[in-house]
Amino acid sequence: MEEVSGYIGNFTITIRKKARYVDTSVCNACAECANVCPVLKPDEYQMGLSTRKAIYIPFPQAVPCSYILNMDDCLGNNPIACGKCAEACEQDAINYDDEDELIKREVGAVIVAIGLDVYDPTEMDEYGYTRYDNVITSMEFERLICAGGPTEGHFVRPSDHERPKRIGFIQCVGSRNPEIGRPYCSNICCMNTIKDTLLLADHYPDVQCSVFYQDIRAFGKSFEDMFQRSKEAGTRYIRGLPGDIEEDPETRNLTLIAENTTTGQIERHEFDMIVLSVGVVPPKDLAKISGLLTLSKTSDGFFMESHPKLKPVDAPTRGIFFAGFCEAPKDIKDSVCQAGAASSRAGALLNKGQVQVEAITSVIDADACRKCGACAPVCPYSAIKWKKGEVAVVIEAACAGCGNCGAACNFDAITMRHFTDAQYLAQIRAILAEDPQDKVFVFACNWCSYSGGDMAGISRMTYPASNRLVRTMCSARVSEEMVLEAFRCGAPVVLVSGCHYADCHYINANRQTVKRVQRLWNKLEKAGVRPERLQLEWISAAEGQKFAKVMGQMEELRKTVTKEEIEHAMEALKPKPRKAKKEKEAAAVTG
Ligand code: FES
Repeated sequence: MEEVSGYIGNFTITIRKKARYVDTSVCNACAECANVCPVLKPDEYQMGLSTRKAIYIPFPQAVPCSYILNMDDCLGNNPIACGKCAEACEQDAINYDDEDELIKREVGAVIVAIGLDVYDPTEMDEYGYTRYDNVITSMEFERLICAGGPTEGHFVRPSDHERPKRIGFIQCVGSRNPEIGRPYCSNICCMNTIKDTLLLADHYPDVQCSVFYQDIRAFGKSFEDMFQRSKEAGTRYIRGLPGDIEEDPETRNLTLIAENTTTGQIERHEFDMIVLSVGVVPPKDLAKISGLLTLSKTSDGFFMESHPKLKPVDAPTRGIFFAGFCEAPKDIKDSVCQAGAASSRAGALLNKGQVQVEAITSVIDADACRKCGACAPVCPYSAIKWKKGEVAVVIEAACAGCGNCGAACNFDAITMRHFTDAQYLAQIRAILAEDPQDKVFVFACNWCSYSGGDMAGISRMTYPASNRLVRTMCSARVSEEMVLEAFRCGAPVVLVSGCHYADCHYINANRQTVKRVQRLWNKLEKAGVRPERLQLEWISAAEGQKFAKVMGQMEELRKTVTKEEIEHAMEALKPKPRKAKKEKEAAAVTG
């Protein structure tokens, strides 16, 4: 995918179809070309355990079953220097002048299913991967035991092609390890290893398998049963991950040193071969796709869904759906379920033929718009179209109503339906009309902090009663003017709160919240107002306890603010004259 434009129901996608240099309509896969090709390269499909030619069939089940010429591998990248394959091809199927093709497609919905990459354990030096031939990954194991693999299913160790008798498996390599930046569970590795031990027990009953693990996660249908069968087949499960692997240079056998956390003993185990059960990582193309489709990522680096429980296959950008690993690690069954759900969601959308938009989208007042374009770059959905010298236009079908543009507009040209500036100013004034010095003013985002407050309430947590909450759809809706107005009305402390940094429900709108609050801190400082009177906190919907704690801290802060400080802020932050229009509207709402 090279380029994407448009929005839900109206995407235009440019796809690069790579040149194959072989005409698939005439290639009959006779292999004459590969037989004469002099180039040998590691075969990616066989995990580099065997070689392929520069012209090859990518994998046995490839469709179409025809050859492909990898021009990067082709001799000297210059077919004139070789040209053997073209000479050998009786079908005349090889065309060195073939070129990539750019195809444009109009689509109404997009399903992102770009899969995963596998963790490369080379950086975990203690396991000696690539240093010791007989330390392999679980992916290499798959190729070695597969009948279509480089050894035709004869399981041998790479160093001497002898059949190993003692095989160790190490779990969680590249998973559940914050030290290497991979704190998440890869979901599939425990069951994959259990399956491998059963395969080995089936093919070679005399092989002794030992699995070193932190926890065995066998929670799917029939998975516990498989785990029990693996144990009954003689596999030893030892709780504790190894700290080091040593190799005997003569026998090429491996010694694994691990603390058995069940017995508390440091143990040494000898193996002929060790399999690293490697975790999964987000695919390398994820960043590019995320840029093209304006998708956000979780802290683990996978795509973030619209809502983890209510919209688990929808992307926050409307009209885009996820299937498989790119959203989070999952096994085949879950991937199939998610793919079914994603296609149903896309089908339902297309069958309707029309899109219903939320009633909270933004509206641009063409007369007030100064054509500055400040709103367009802050929209996380690219829902505002703006060209230099032109009035900005909102694509309502793409707008999710976060309010970020409304907060960014310096000329009051953007109104958020049902969450207008005038309504907010009226709320601020009403809340602080009496005894403002006793109140902590809180802007809370609808999805997280406000729900965090609900959670604190339903969990019957106690916290000071001084806070007054105003709900905004996103913390990015809070404009500088709204915060300043709260101080002008005598608020001793203002708290802006929202979802955790990577969890904003409007992709990454809360990054603008941070920028806005930082600008406000500077402004307050310049005006001689203590910047810490404005606080920023991320509170999730589940963090009722944190909500209560933060409210306690705000109350403590409130007690430190003197009457003189409040009065000084009220005077120093007085509104500028051009806000008169908004003033009038707010007065009308209050009235
Ligand atoms: Fe909560 Fe954006 S939705 S901060």
